[in-house]
Amino acid sequence: MKKQQKTAFFCQNCGYESPKWIGKCPGCGEWNRFAEEPTQAADARVPAEYQLNEKPRPIDDVQGDEKVRLKTGMEEMDRVLGGGIVGGSAILVGGDPGIGKSTLLLQVLHRLASGGLKVLYISGEESASQIKLRADRIGASSKNLFVLVEVSLENILRYIKEVAPAAVVIDSIQTVYSSMLTSAPGSVGQVREASERLIILSKKTGIPVFLVGHVTKDGSIAGPKVLEHMVDTVLYFEGDSGHSYRIIRGIKNRFGPTNEIGVFEMRDRGLVEVSNPSEYFLTERPEGVAGSVVVAAIEGTSPILVERQALVVSTSFGMPRRTAIGVDVNRVSLLVAVLDKIGGLHLGNHDIFINVAGGVKLSEPAVDLGIIAAIASSFLDRPIDPKTVVFGEVGLTGEVRGINQMDVRIREAARMGFTRCIMPLTRLRDAGKADGIQRLRVDNLRGLMEHLF
Ligand code: TYD
Ligand code: MG
Repeated sequence: MKKQQKTAFFCQNCGYESPKWIGKCPGCGEWNRFAEEPTQAADARVPAEYQLNEKPRPIDDVQGDEKVRLKTGMEEMDRVLGGGIVGGSAILVGGDPGIGKSTLLLQVLHRLASGGLKVLYISGEESASQIKLRADRIGASSKNLFVLVEVSLENILRYIKEVAPAAVVIDSIQTVYSSMLTSAPGSVGQVREASERLIILSKKTGIPVFLVGHVTKDGSIAGPKVLEHMVDTVLYFEGDSGHSYRIIRGIKNRFGPTNEIGVFEMRDRGLVEVSNPSEYFLTERPEGVAGSVVVAAIEGTSPILVERQALVVSTSFGMPRRTAIGVDVNRVSLLVAVLDKIGGLHLGNHDIFINVAGGVKLSEPAVDLGIIAAIASSFLDRPIDPKTVVFGEVGLTGEVRGINQMDVRIREAARMGFTRCIMPLTRLRDAGKADGIQRLRVDNLRGLMEHLF
């Protein structure tokens, strides 16, 4: 008699396994994401691909040359990857549907193909003629760019071995399924199995693989969270439907710095690199208006100037509202409380709205001082000098604290034509002042107010 197959419940967001259904995932905190899937039998035979056949050996004998990086020629992309694609690495590219993942990766492959390398684009979402249409649109046609429309994992592995490309893209990992498992395509089990076998193949052959993963909210297919710990590099592609810029952000990178960002603009002929993001994000800034301030932030290794906006209006009824877009709302509440108690601005019966103009999300504490300045400016209805940049962390007692890489921020501000920097007074040293920018150092909110207004 055939034994009934065992099942368990898996969180479709992070892969947490539970013997019974639960509402809130203890792993990632998401609600209502559990689905029943067959568990793999413990004695399932290990396929040959899983065996790396490696033996322990002294590290001195290991050749480091497999870490030679493949340059994509797209500077923003290479920087986010830590200087190029590392051979045998698995790179997960996550993002909302329609954000431009397929476009980006097709462009990356095209760049490699025009450099004379054979590359393979595997899609389970579009037909070959649809891919061709997109490729024509972005000018990505080449004899070296191979396309394959396939969803079966076994076939995909076979063709990768057969073609032996310099890089391969799987678009998307959620469409791939293995006939060795009984669970549905897109489920946690399938996504894990497919990724595991692709990663092993990549490690064995040295072919880098890009895995595209859709971020989904409804939980019907497994999200990229499931894979984050398996791959070497995790990149998220962000953007806003109302804006044409796209940011690729490194979340994890075994071969380079994390938190590095690359900025692109989506045009009618594909993605174009934005090599001067500060200029790009500041173009529509209103000057001489209350509630707007420019802050100098650092993302990864690159400085970026962005505008912060605040609107403070008296509450018409009931509870005052605190709304923040692109900033943590709890952080805003904290800063409002500091400003109220220590800065002496009584915001208790005012609604406060904070926005990052242009939509770039920044979570650095260095933008605290900018948020405070924008709120104060809107509340007092006094504009801040448009040639002033503000940065610094604010503590609970209203002290302004030093932050890292102040020099880099000042240099970027000077490059963009700013003339004044309101910055922390700290013992952390910053180098020369050859850049002709005035440094106004403050250690508390009173100092800030004096320089602002
Ligand atoms: P796509 O790469 O298909 O997104 P994803 O793979 O992340 O789902 O991008 C689709 C969007 O990009 C679509 O809304 C149209 C837009 N787009 C352009 O604006 N210009 C272009 O040249 C291309 C190819 C797409
Ligand atoms: Mg796509």
